[in-house]
Amino acid sequence: MKTLVIGTGGREHALALALSLDPAVTEVHAAPGNPGIGEVATLHPVDLMDGAAVAALATSIGADLVVVGPEAPLVAGVADPVREAGIAVFGPSRAAARLEGSKAFSKDVMASAGVPTAGSRTCTTPEEVAAALDAFGAPYVVKDDALAAGKGVVVTTDRDAALAHAAGCERVVVEEFLDGPEFSVFVVCDGIVGRPLLPAQDFKRIFDGGRGPNTGGMGSYAPLTWLPEGVVDTVMTAVVAPTLAEMQQRGAPFVGCLYVGLALTEAGPKVIEFNCRFGDPDIQPVLALLTSPLGALLRAAADGDLSTVPEPTFAEGAAVSVVMASAGYPEGSRTGDVVIGTETLAVEDDVDVIHAGTARTDAGLVTAGGRVLAVRAIGSDVADARAKAYEGISSISFPGAQWRRDIAAEPLGVVEGAASRG
Ligand code: AMP
Ligand code: GLY
Repeated sequence: MKTLVIGTGGREHALALALSLDPAVTEVHAAPGNPGIGEVATLHPVDLMDGAAVAALATSIGADLVVVGPEAPLVAGVADPVREAGIAVFGPSRAAARLEGSKAFSKDVMASAGVPTAGSRTCTTPEEVAAALDAFGAPYVVKDDALAAGKGVVVTTDRDAALAHAAGCERVVVEEFLDGPEFSVFVVCDGIVGRPLLPAQDFKRIFDGGRGPNTGGMGSYAPLTWLPEGVVDTVMTAVVAPTLAEMQQRGAPFVGCLYVGLALTEAGPKVIEFNCRFGDPDIQPVLALLTSPLGALLRAAADGDLSTVPEPTFAEGAAVSVVMASAGYPEGSRTGDVVIGTETLAVEDDVDVIHAGTARTDAGLVTAGGRVLAVRAIGSDVADARAKAYEGISSISFPGAQWRRDIAAEPLGVVEGAASRG
C-alpha cells in the first residue's frame, strides 16, 4: 500500500513513522512534510491547502491511501477532490469537518444527538453575550465560533475579560464551565463505526503548573491509568455512536479521526470539544504504543470497512512526549535558531525526535515554527517513559528553547485541580 500524508507537523511525523512500520505499507510519501518526515517518507513540495494539487499528487504517485493531518485543509475541503479522484482518504469531507470548523455547528450536532456536553448559547451581540455570561455564571467560557488555532477560547473568572474576548469575534459560543480532569479520545471512524485508541492527556499551557497562555500543546502521555474503567465505553456509546449517526443523517458521514476532548465531571464524561483530526502532541504517545498496523486501520476507515478489521492493540507500558518550543512562543516564534543534538537520539530504541517546526538550511537544522520538536519515549510506566524523554531533551539545544519540566509528572487536573489545568 502506497500512502501519502498531508501536513507539516509533529502529528504528521508521528503518523508517517507509524505508517513506515506497517509491513503492508510499501511507500510513505508526504506533502509538504518537514525534515523529520523526510527521514521516513519521500517529500513533495505541494501546497497542503490546494485540494486539486493534492489530488493530482496522489494520482501521480499512485497513492492507495491519503491521510490529511491538520484541521485547516480538512475544514477547507481538501479531502473532497481526493475522494472524487477515486482515492481512499482518511480525513473528513468539508461538510463533516464542520464539527471542528464551527463551534456552533458542533454544539448543534451534540444537542440533536443527545451528547453530554456543557450547556451553551450561540451569541452575536454584546447583549446576548452578557445575558449568557450571567446565566451560566463564573468561571466564564467564551469560544470564537470560527477556527482559531487553539487561541479562540477564553476561560476566565473576569467578566470584563470574557466580554472583551467576545467583542473581538463575530459570533461566539458561551458555555457552562465543566469541572474535572480533561482527556482526549481519538476515534478512528468510517462514517458508521468508530474504533477508539488509547485516551491521552495534553498539557496545553506554556508554563509549569498549568500557568501562562494556551498553546497547541506542550507535552502529552498515555495511557491514563487514573481513568476509571468503562469511561471509554461510555464515551463510545454516549458520544461517538450518536454523533456518527447524526452526521450520517445530515448527509455528512464522518470519515477520519473524531477527536473527542472531554472533562471527567462528577456526572461522568462530558464533551468539551470535537476536532476533526488527531490531536498533536496527544496522538504521539498513543501511536508509540500502537502494536497493530496503522495503515490497515486507516485504510479500512477510509473504505467504510472498519468492522472487518480487529480492534487496535497497544503495548504494555507508557509513552511520553515533551515539546521544545522556540523563543517567543506562543505569542510568536523565532525562526532560524540552530538546533543541535537530535542526531544523538536517532540511535536510541525507545526514544525518538518528532519534528514539527524545523527546517534544514546551510546552517543545519534550524527552528521554523512555534513548536519545534518533541522528544517521545516509551517506558515500562509513565515515570520511566518520562525520565527517558527528559534525558533526551537534555541532549538537544537551541537558543531560546522553552519546554515544561512537569509533563506527565502528575496526571493533569487530577492532582493540580481543574481550575489550574493547563
Ligand atoms: P477548545 O478549543 O474548545 O478545546 O478549548 C480550549 C480549552 O479551554 C480546553 O482544552 C479546556 O481546557 C478549556 N475549555 C473549553 N471549554 C470548556 C468548558 N466548557 N469548561 C471548562 N473548560 C473549558
Ligand atoms: N493538542 C490539542 C490539539 O491538537 O488540538
